[in-house]
Amino acid sequence: MANNVKIIYNNQSYSFPIIEGSENEKAIDIKQLRSKTGFITYDPGYKNTGHCISNITYLDGENGILRYRGYSIDELCKKTTFLEVCYLLIFGELPTKQQLDKFQFDINKESLVDEHVKEIFHSFPKSAHPMGVLSSLTSAMIAFNPKNENKLSLKESAKSENDKILYNSTVKLLAKFPILSSWTLRKIKGLPLNYSSDRFNYVENIAYLMFAKPNQEYVQNDIVVNALNSLLILHADHEQNCSTSTVRIVGSSYAGLFASISAGISALWGRLHGGANQAVIEMLELIKNDNSNINKYIDKAKDKNDPFRLMGFGHRVYKNFDPRAKIIKKATDQVLNDLGIDDPVLDIAKEIESKALNDPYFIEKKLYPNVDFYSGIIYRALGIPIDMFTVIFALGRIPGWIAQWKEMRESNSPIGRPRQLYNGPNERSIK
Ligand code: SDX
Repeated sequence: MANNVKIIYNNQSYSFPIIEGSENEKAIDIKQLRSKTGFITYDPGYKNTGHCISNITYLDGENGILRYRGYSIDELCKKTTFLEVCYLLIFGELPTKQQLDKFQFDINKESLVDEHVKEIFHSFPKSAHPMGVLSSLTSAMIAFNPKNENKLSLKESAKSENDKILYNSTVKLLAKFPILSSWTLRKIKGLPLNYSSDRFNYVENIAYLMFAKPNQEYVQNDIVVNALNSLLILHADHEQNCSTSTVRIVGSSYAGLFASISAGISALWGRLHGGANQAVIEMLELIKNDNSNINKYIDKAKDKNDPFRLMGFGHRVYKNFDPRAKIIKKATDQVLNDLGIDDPVLDIAKEIESKALNDPYFIEKKLYPNVDFYSGIIYRALGIPIDMFTVIFALGRIPGWIAQWKEMRESNSPIGRPRQLYNGPNERSIK
């Protein structure tokens, strides 16, 4: 099997090496393309472009496979907690009991939020979208954590000091982001803000932060906690998606972890990305209120002249079922059944899925339900307001962003700076 490719142009032949990953994926290494040929590539949306070599997450879009550090998400959902998956993604291995206990202890130590951050939080209007609030507060964390990784030294000798700074920033983020997220939910519901409780594990604490009511004894609902644990694991990482690539490229300029993740939160907010879980419910409600006229909306989605898209369908990588959607669909049935909830939009979602999967348009374009198609229905059943759906996605994605940022920094990636093809006016003078 050849280990290089040749480009022949104007009778000149240029050779470029083929590199191969651990799952036999192949890439043409074009690092020398411009210096050898003077050419660049053109690939809007980077659909065919790899910008890093990563050991964290493996996706097989054709076969609907998703693994974190080699473990399938199916097995991780059945056998691990979300905090163990955080540890796996960030440090490369599942933690021993001692490592997990220390990780939880270090996170608990950081579970207070500076009262000035609460003042910033209260300065936002009640109508502010939680994703905008959280992107701002995550960036504000830089001001309250002066020894943050903006000052990571480039010197090799500073590695152990850098590791300590990065570990501290990691536990700070994992400790404070759930509190800040719960504050946005409690503000929407008009509930007083609360703080973490050490009597719970990581995901139990997230449920407590979101759902505990004042002057009422808090009774944990294990159905809710187990559903949250699986949902957060399923959202924990997804290789080089839009928001993760944003985190990596912002960090590549040597901006710090908090600043990079604040940018990632903003990227995730978009309705083509993490904001799709909110857009799916809005779409299902629209269809329900239009006499559940599903065929009308499937036809709109197929009409090239109509901007309407079937939200929650299609994916850049998965040209088969998104493995997460399969697990979430099963969990949706389970949670609604266990909670005794009958949500009419679930029936509409299932009917849309069965019609689309048998429609030539969706079949030819390989459009299947993705992670966002059913997740909003579960969040709604858990009593989470619709504006919070993408926040729950972000809560899950925090460890993936940290892991990818750490890998980018440790591999000394060059600053991200794509090229362009200029097509504007040629040189001209002011008349
Ligand atoms: C996430 O990348 C990740 O890993 C993301 C994510 C993660 O975990 O980080 O998995 C999370 O973002 C999931 C995706 C959530 N977004 C949505 O559900 C929004 C609806 N889906 C689409 O907008 C779209 O499918 C994307 C954005 C997800 C992917 O878009 P691509 O890869 O750029 O593909 P495209 O827009 O070029 O579409 C290819 C064709 C087009 O038709 P043609 O121009 O070829 O005729 O398929 C059509 C599109 O019009 N198409 C759809 C469609 N999605 C694609 N037609 C109708 N409804 C849709 N949903």
